[in-house]
Amino acid sequence: MGELVRYGARRFRAARLAFGHGSTTALDEAAYLTLHTLGLPLDASARALARRVESQAVARVLKLYERRIRQRKPAAYLTREAWLGELRFYVDERVVVPRSHIAELLRAGLAPWLADPKRVKSALDLCTGSGCLAVLLAHSFPRAKIDAADISRAALTVARINIRKYGLGKRIHLIESDLFSALRGKYYDLIVCNPPYVAARSMQRLPREYRHEPRTALAGGTDGLDAVRGIVLGAAAHLTPGGLLVVEVGSGRRRVERAFPQVPFTWPQTAAGHAVFIVQREQLPRQML
Ligand SMILES: C[S@@+](CC[C@H](N)C(=O)[O-])C[C@H]1O[C@@H](n2cnc3c(N)ncnc32)[C@H](O)[C@@H]1O
Repeated sequence: MGELVRYGARRFRAARLAFGHGSTTALDEAAYLTLHTLGLPLDASARALARRVESQAVARVLKLYERRIRQRKPAAYLTREAWLGELRFYVDERVVVPRSHIAELLRAGLAPWLADPKRVKSALDLCTGSGCLAVLLAHSFPRAKIDAADISRAALTVARINIRKYGLGKRIHLIESDLFSALRGKYYDLIVCNPPYVAARSMQRLPREYRHEPRTALAGGTDGLDAVRGIVLGAAAHLTPGGLLVVEVGSGRRRVERAFPQVPFTWPQTAAGHAVFIVQREQLPRQML
């Protein structure tokens, strides 16, 4: 099997594929597609990797490699699954492939920014897409009722699949909403959001793989902050006292700080550097409360 994976990686490199939807290298991508096709766990042992693969299975793997090269789709759209940490989500082209760095912070229960996860009784996943962060919220904050909102009805259909898969239909409520517009009168102890934040010039330079993702999920306007501005300005009116807002902005830190010089954002370290900010309701300017 190792030879098959190395062959795939060589082909992917030669075809100059782009990665970043779960795998970051050609070798990881080839290994993932191979293990998935063979029905092996992603943490398969070295012994499993050394074993011979029968010719029919080899043919299935090679076919998938070819589709990856020809269609330039992220692997997740070919396999209809994506992993965020330990959790597996159904995905298709109606949603972006889950990869939010907010997941890393949720896994730690947002410590040290939140002292006691049990005190979070209500949470909002704004821009929920596949519902992946809403599901993680439900796991990290066992006492919380969760709203998961998105402007895209198609994305909400995918989110429903994942919420059912995890048996969370009673705890996670899906809402079609343009940012906070359909959330009037609702208050949350915690709001997380991975909004579209790609600036217009960067949108033009995106590799083909990213063009299979919904444009509304990525495009953040001229400076990438169209949605982020609405979220920072609107969040205070939906947070309970002491409530936290957690937003991913990719490489937009300096732009965000320039747009809101009066807000003392905290930028925790994640695998992507400082791509996520945290701010408490009371740290937002008074006129926004
Ligand atoms: C980057 S994706 C994040 C999806 C998911 N939370 C994740 O982390 O994988 C952004 C999502 O925001 C949604 N969206 C874009 N503009 C929106 C708006 N004005 N109001 C609500 N949702 C919006 C898109 O439909 C998309 O599902």
